[in-house]
Amino acid sequence: MSARRLAKVQPASFEFSKETMEKAQWWIKKYPESRRQSAVIPVLWLVQKQEGWVSEPAIRAIAELLGMAYIRVLEVATFYTMFMLEPVGKVALIQVCGTTQCMLRGSQDLMRVCKEKIGPKDKLSADGRFTWQEVECIGACSNAPVAQINDLYYEDLTPENMAQIIDDFAAGKTPKAGSYCGRHNAAPVGGAKVLLDPALYDGSAAKKIKKLPNSEPKKADA
Ligand code: FES
Repeated sequence: MSARRLAKVQPASFEFSKETMEKAQWWIKKYPESRRQSAVIPVLWLVQKQEGWVSEPAIRAIAELLGMAYIRVLEVATFYTMFMLEPVGKVALIQVCGTTQCMLRGSQDLMRVCKEKIGPKDKLSADGRFTWQEVECIGACSNAPVAQINDLYYEDLTPENMAQIIDDFAAGKTPKAGSYCGRHNAAPVGGAKVLLDPALYDGSAAKKIKKLPNSEPKKADA
């Protein structure tokens, strides 16, 4: 559990862009007028997409838009770690999973590379282009170790892959997302290892199955 506080340095003001406001209104209209505050999470997300992070003036603007008490929006923004409360790298926000499966598969080495190339975790890099963080499980454990970079997952990483990915982002490229060990999605490395018998798929295996005990409905008692 971490204490999540607003950044010490805040901008003087916030304004919704035209595009953000149009999307926010789309979300707001999904709910009855008396429940427009239900759109708080999507609107916070849209603001983060616009600015890269959620500032204190933005939280006030969202509260005003949704007719909510400012503290209610602040509660949501500070509860969910998906909302960045400080400016993050404009080129890449790298979130390395440090939970058990990824840790056992080498996430500490990925973090070491991030530290060497970017600087301390949770701090904007000196050039303002990168931020890296350690996060809890991001739900792609089968492809550990994993990092989420901006909106995409980079999986089955090695320190060499991670270093190259950071270099590519720094050079203005967009490295490919997904598995870096050649597997398809989360399929077994080297291809399938079970359920290989073709008879499983042509229906012939089903004929061999004998009637199971207790598979017939019981006759009603006389
Ligand atoms: Fe890393 Fe689940 S433990 S994605």
